Amino acid sequence: MSSHGTDDGSAASDPVVEAVFDAIAATAPEIRAALPGRRVEGEGDDNPSGETVMAGDLYADELLADALTAVDGVGAYVSEEREAATDAGEGYSVAIDPLDGSSNLRSNNVMGTVVGIYEGELPATGRDLVAAGYTLLGPITTMVVADADGVREEVIERDPDGDGNDDADEDGVSRSVVAEDLTLPSDPTVYGFGGRVPDWTDDFRAYAREIEDELKLRYGGSMVGDVNQVVTYGGIFAYPALRDAPDGKLRLSFEANPIAYVIERMGGASSDGYGSILDVEPEGLHDRVPLYVGNEALVDRIEDALADD
Ligand code: F6P
Ligand code: MN
Repeated sequence: MSSHGTDDGSAASDPVVEAVFDAIAATAPEIRAALPGRRVEGEGDDNPSGETVMAGDLYADELLADALTAVDGVGAYVSEEREAATDAGEGYSVAIDPLDGSSNLRSNNVMGTVVGIYEGELPATGRDLVAAGYTLLGPITTMVVADADGVREEVIERDPDGDGNDDADEDGVSRSVVAEDLTLPSDPTVYGFGGRVPDWTDDFRAYAREIEDELKLRYGGSMVGDVNQVVTYGGIFAYPALRDAPDGKLRLSFEANPIAYVIERMGGASSDGYGSILDVEPEGLHDRVPLYVGNEALVDRIEDALADD
């Protein structure tokens, strides 16, 4: 993991990174407010991964593109919903999954935005990330940020004192840090695995049977929500390689790398089944990859299980 500290060892915050998180935070309440009327499929084609797009995905993508390309020091806006990068000048490439878990819109369950801030152009490995995080549109709007200062959870509000007045600062929202220097709980309690059991490989199925005896299932069908269970309680989240889809479902640049970065910064581990997600060499912008993240001992065990092949 590269360090972004200063010579004296203290963390130096990067104003561009901060401005990106300000923009993500500012859009979160707007995205939330726009969702009630956007629970239907969007007009137009599938996304570059061949998935049905919801109107909420398209709305969030447009809003985030406008907000992020306006940030000085952002060179490219790269979205799961767009075939190619949108040029924004010189600077970081900001990779966005605008509305992860949007298939939860119809059933009104959690979703959020995933962000990875990369040095240089994409595709790149996760080693080029300088910061990453995600918002969670749950009962509370939160943002988990992994930057030079470590990993923290913030609450995002438009009206923090609840008096009906918009008390937001100039960025449109208030950001309150509610937990700093987050590390994964050392005594893991939860797991969440995506995909249908019949589609799992025999090795993963055997691993899952063991984990079911040890941990409690927490699976809601959105990566950000399910990963946040692991961030909060410790455990393991996986969207594994499937029999007919050896690369799984999640996208390396927009989903797996940012989440792996957050979890590794918290002292946890990430894997594609064989090594850290952050070392996976991409071929294209929309590559998929199996994702296993959580407490190191649990991730080591899945690597051991898959090595039996
Ligand atoms: O972005 C893809 C996604 O919606 C993730 O948020 C989630 O982890 C996964 O797909 C859910 O897939 P499934 O419905 O197959 O469990
Ligand atoms: Mn997603």
